Amino acid sequence: KSHWKGIISEYFEHFPVNEKTPIVTLLEGNTPLVKVNNLTKKLNIDLELYLKFDGANPTGSFKDRGMTLAISKAVEEGSKAVICASTGNTSASASAYAARAGIKAIVLIPEGKIATGKLVQAMIHGAKVIQIKGNFDQALNIVRAIVNEYPITLVNSINPYRIEGQKSAAFEVCDQLGRVPDYHALPVGNAGNISAYWKGYKEYREKGKINSLPKMLGFQASGAAPIVLGHPVEKPETVATAIRIGNPASWKTAVAARDESGGTIDMVTDEEILYAYKMIASCEGIFCEPASAASVAGVIKLYKQGYFKKQSTVVCTLTGNGLKDPDIVFKVADEPLVLPADLESVKAFVEKIL
Ligand code: F0G
Repeated sequence: KSHWKGIISEYFEHFPVNEKTPIVTLLEGNTPLVKVNNLTKKLNIDLELYLKFDGANPTGSFKDRGMTLAISKAVEEGSKAVICASTGNTSASASAYAARAGIKAIVLIPEGKIATGKLVQAMIHGAKVIQIKGNFDQALNIVRAIVNEYPITLVNSINPYRIEGQKSAAFEVCDQLGRVPDYHALPVGNAGNISAYWKGYKEYREKGKINSLPKMLGFQASGAAPIVLGHPVEKPETVATAIRIGNPASWKTAVAARDESGGTIDMVTDEEILYAYKMIASCEGIFCEPASAASVAGVIKLYKQGYFKKQSTVVCTLTGNGLKDPDIVFKVADEPLVLPADLESVKAFVEKIL
């Protein structure tokens, strides 16, 4: 079997690259597309449900797809440093790919509001980590202003190469499934990824690789749902810190993806997110982070409302790895049992659960 070479090499002709582009890769992409049976059975959901587990990427999130291209192009253009604002995953990915490229990374994160695993990734990869006493939207405004004054490359999804790279996930879904899903569901934060998927699906059709398009479904957390409400949210709040965003940069393209595809952008409560998060992990063995579970939570919500035609094929992207945010587990899962170190106590327990 030939080995996967990372998304740029695998989908070379679909990207704005040439033979001279220095490819900075950690062999991202080619993530599992897993058919789900236990969860649908348990919840009485009559859909063909697939999970695209992008938490299996090298730094544990879908951001690697965009970062390989953004960092490769930054190096091609002679950049010596990159900067981003982040709720955690972008900063982790930018830090790793910058390390791989041998350039500097500066990351701005909201103090106390990013998952521990993401923070330590940026630290260990040697990024300059700045915690700001504010939220993601404020951090993004600051980095936008910084790149206007200094020769630093912005690697938030405003950078078009980020969206370009992320569209590869739509290609993979079609290649892995052998057809086009009826619906594609995603969590929505800064709204780059839903825009990227839609771009990917449309381009794959233009190139004759597929001949239909899915309906795009986006889900925001109800405490951070500017697109659903139709106005920015000044103080976004949600347990899903990755999508704790009140004024998404790619708002317009996300709305276009929704409208052109005939899909919807809706919201789910923290309770619905955590329920889906636990169900995915306990029924299917896939550990994603809370924000990722918003896609599945949204599909469950819409299914209950009779939104789907029965037996439709639905793909949910699980955007990030659950290991990044272990603290949440202690809030939703059973505590480990503590027993004396003797055989009898453990036997008594084993007999009780058998
Ligand atoms: N899921 C996860 C795990 C994320 O980290 C993000 C965004 C999203 C979903 C939403 O994707 O922003 O393209 O709509 N995280 C960004 C970050 C904001 O800084 O890591 P989006």
